[in-house]
Amino acid sequence: MRNFVMPPTPIWPVDPSAPDPTVVRRAADLIRAGRLVAFPTETVYGLGANALDPAAVAGIYAAKGRPATNPVIVHVADPVAVPAVAATWPDAARQLAERFWPGPLTLVVPKAEAVPDGVTGGGPTVAVRCPAHPVARALLVAAGVPIAAPSANRSGELSPTTAAHVLRSLDGKLDAILDGGPCPGGLESTVVDVSGPVVRLLRPGLITVVQLEAVVGPVELGPPPAAPGAALPAPGMLARHYAPRTALECAETAEEAGFLAGLYETAGLKVARLIVTGAPVVAAARLYADLHALDEAGYDRIIVTLPPATDEWRAVRDRLTRAAAEE
Ligand code: TXA
Ligand code: MG
Repeated sequence: MRNFVMPPTPIWPVDPSAPDPTVVRRAADLIRAGRLVAFPTETVYGLGANALDPAAVAGIYAAKGRPATNPVIVHVADPVAVPAVAATWPDAARQLAERFWPGPLTLVVPKAEAVPDGVTGGGPTVAVRCPAHPVARALLVAAGVPIAAPSANRSGELSPTTAAHVLRSLDGKLDAILDGGPCPGGLESTVVDVSGPVVRLLRPGLITVVQLEAVVGPVELGPPPAAPGAALPAPGMLARHYAPRTALECAETAEEAGFLAGLYETAGLKVARLIVTGAPVVAAARLYADLHALDEAGYDRIIVTLPPATDEWRAVRDRLTRAAAEE
């Protein structure tokens, strides 16, 4: 682990549709040397390290201040690279990967021996994703190793959708940022557990339950019920997550939002109102950028009017209600 102060992190601009191979090679060399590089994906920026190098993976946890029990996603360049990280590839994984890869879908499967405990939180499964973003793909191909990458933010904070967001959260804690501009999707991938007898949605994302069920049939929502006496919730199920620094509250209706805002304003607080509406994919693409901007603007409170509780809005509602949760 690092016990020295790192210099400010360099930002390396790349064309998101045709990344310069020389710049990508420099980033890939850092990954191969066990260093940390942030890179854009179609969802959010990831904080990448060689997934097969335990010391490099430990560096991710140190930089993020992430609890060691929360496992990270392993990114692969191509489905043919899956056997390097997965012990088995269940039918549901094959069907979902055929339909949605490359893309914003993460599949939890039994892990291969070579995957360090640091990646899986010591558990028997590994989360695998083949991203679609040309910069992520170019980096994976050039590195020639699977890349472990959580979102490139300090643990519990908002995920970054631009290089500036990464810098704001992690400056000096990583070796380089590949800046491919804003991430088009704007919300983290859908996480699906296909390691057991039922297919489970662990984290809603840009791929909806309706889309998943069209391929694999019924999908259970959420992790299995906790074993009696279990000390920790299932990975990634911590209530508070994805939160701006400014306190945030959710309202189901405009009336409720107006009422809450009125209360705080009467008490002398500076209140920002955010109304999440329109097309779900468009709203998702800008959600974190809006929250980052409101955070910078120095409000005391953010009041969000939630979109309806439909499948298309599930991921957006999930992130907003987690952002509003108490510690
Ligand atoms: O879109 C994304 O998924 C982004 C980009 C960079 O790919 N990555 C991302 O990673 O959001 P992270 O670490 O912030 O979130 C990973 C989620 C967490 O909720 C984690 O608990 C869950 O995936 N996860 C990882 N490995 C798991 C496993 N073996 N079993 C269950 N959940 C797992
Ligand atoms: Mg994250």
